[in-house]
Amino acid sequence: MLETAERSKQDFARGVLEGLAQEPPAIAARWLYDDAGSALFDDITDLPEYYPTRTEIGILRDRRDEIAAAVGPGRSVIDYGAGSLTKTPLLIEAVKPAVYVPVDISGPFLRDSAAALGERFPDLPIHPVEADFTRAFTLPAEVSRHRRLGFFPGSTIGNFVPESAVDLLRSFRTTLGTGALLLIGFDRLKDERRLVAAYDDAAGTTAAFNRNLLERMNRDLGADVDVEAFAHEARWNERMARIEMHLVARRATAFMVAGHHFHFEAGETIHTENSHKYTLHSARLLLLSGGWTPLQEWSDANDDFSLILARSEAERFAP
Ligand code: AVJ
Repeated sequence: MLETAERSKQDFARGVLEGLAQEPPAIAARWLYDDAGSALFDDITDLPEYYPTRTEIGILRDRRDEIAAAVGPGRSVIDYGAGSLTKTPLLIEAVKPAVYVPVDISGPFLRDSAAALGERFPDLPIHPVEADFTRAFTLPAEVSRHRRLGFFPGSTIGNFVPESAVDLLRSFRTTLGTGALLLIGFDRLKDERRLVAAYDDAAGTTAAFNRNLLERMNRDLGADVDVEAFAHEARWNERMARIEMHLVARRATAFMVAGHHFHFEAGETIHTENSHKYTLHSARLLLLSGGWTPLQEWSDANDDFSLILARSEAERFAP
């Protein structure tokens, strides 16, 4: 059997080769998050231009009593944002769950964050699940006695194109069941300059985060990408209401990865991430399309970010 590290390198190689073969080239955003990328993303959340993280934390703090009243105590909380050591404690303190289930694709990451939360909440039963949450999975038996609350913070939903976002919401419903609640974060549509600044900060942290993908290809796959030949770009796509991250070739450049040759002309790009932005109406419609009925919404005073509480309804006959 292959070592986990070797297998994940093979998955990464496959993701990169498939992505670069697309026209235009686009590598899935999940590959941005190796150890170095996750550390850089952490730095991003502290940037003055990057408002989503601190705004969402502010909402959880300021609206804690209302969220607590709407959700009620004693649920099993399924955390699809496992590992946020700021947001999760705020949620746990507000909704007083009976059981806590962090879900993540990375076992080591999951174990570390579960251990940290266990120290903070010694009386709370914690049952980590190592799973790819884009697919439905079976919840541990311990949660079945309690009503469920899914937690999907960070506007991670924004990484998914609408069609995939609907698939994801439907798979949450399959996993959590009818009558479950979902508390989900949406980044709101706003002034284009603020959006671009949030993804192209003055300190260059987001640029380093994006270009780490190329460095990771060199590190893990033995590629020979001239990282300096690519520039970070945050591009507002008005039609799709999303920020796109691209790596733009500054000049003609070529490289090899896993035995395959690639050539880029100056100005050609590798698309590395989407971050869709929502109005309250488009967020509601997305939730409804995925089988979730919006119940309540909480936003900051500036309407920069919204947390929406929704309930999964039984599939109903409808004309
Ligand atoms: C982690 C997907 C929510 O889209 O805002 C931040 C990722 N990329 N800066 C986002 C990200 C560049 C972030 N999410």
